[in-house]
Amino acid sequence: MKILLLGKNGQVGWELQRSLAPLGELVALDRHSVDLCGDLGNLPGLAATVQQLRPDVIVNAAAHTAVDKAESEPALARALNAQAPGVLAQEAAKLGALLVHYSTDYVFDGMGHRPWTEADTPAPLNVYGKTKLEGEQRIQAACPRHLILRTSWVYAARGNNFAKTMLRLAQERERLTVIDDQFGAPTGADLLADVSAHAIRQLLQSPANAGLYHLAAGGETSWHGYAKYVLAQAEYAQSALKIIAKELAPVPGSAFPTAARRPHNSRLDTGKLQTVFDLRLPDWQRGVDRMLAEIL
Ligand SMILES: NC(=O)c1ccc[n+]([C@@H]2O[C@H](COP(=O)([O-])OP(=O)(O)OC[C@H]3O[C@@H](n4cnc5c(N)ncnc54)[C@H](OP(=O)(O)O)[C@@H]3O)[C@@H](O)[C@H]2O)c1
Repeated sequence: MKILLLGKNGQVGWELQRSLAPLGELVALDRHSVDLCGDLGNLPGLAATVQQLRPDVIVNAAAHTAVDKAESEPALARALNAQAPGVLAQEAAKLGALLVHYSTDYVFDGMGHRPWTEADTPAPLNVYGKTKLEGEQRIQAACPRHLILRTSWVYAARGNNFAKTMLRLAQERERLTVIDDQFGAPTGADLLADVSAHAIRQLLQSPANAGLYHLAAGGETSWHGYAKYVLAQAEYAQSALKIIAKELAPVPGSAFPTAARRPHNSRLDTGKLQTVFDLRLPDWQRGVDRMLAEIL
């Protein structure tokens, strides 16, 4: 089996390089790849890559993920998040290949408290969410053999993440203010990659299970709850860490004005994925514990 991975150096792409490797021959590209085009901004180049490689599975982990920046460059966000997935879908359909793609809870308006299901109606609040939704729709229209995984609050041990920022600030400042009116589940890129590999294997046996699924770690918290957990675990795990922050003040999201509106409710109902693929998603704290063990 031949697998084409796009976006190999992003948070999820990096972990996919590990989890997809045992499934078959893996060709992993990023936007700077030279022999084959892995640039989502080059639509003819992307199509040519698929036509030349003829993969059995295409996994697209690349995207325009700068949520605030997308507000001022909507055409670029649309090209990368909507048009490029559309081209991948058309090319995958011609080959009969499976297309795996990642989307986001930002396709919803973030109202209410109930975890979103796949049957809920999307109503994105910002350019990023709108372009990601259009990407989903283009895939659904062009390629029946797809796996779209909507996720939220992704972190990885590699690169920057919210937990690392909190740990740094807590060693610099006595008082931290953290948003407490946005809710979701911090989800590890490693969990996303492992579940993707598992689902790909199953889909190759049971193609009828193709479709749209929500995938996030179990449980829920706010950014404030997440920060509190990270600092408590860090102090417990490493007594040498000099945390000077005595106060972790909860504030509304409106205290941090941003170019893009953010949803309050990022909770995702993952029941469909767990049932269809016979999986159990661990609580978010388990993945964060592992990430902290790696970075501390
Ligand atoms: N991060 C989250 O909280 C979150 C939440 C929900 C859903 N998602 C979705 O999950 C998927 C993976 O996200 P992630 O967290 O792994 O994001 P990430 O770490 O920002 O990775 C995105 C990757 O896309 C690459 N990229 C950007 N422009 C490109 C282009 N023109 N051609 C090829 N590659 C390009 C980036 O490369 P450079 O480093 O060179 O820019 C980067 O490696 C995305 O579909 C995202 O929308 C993420």
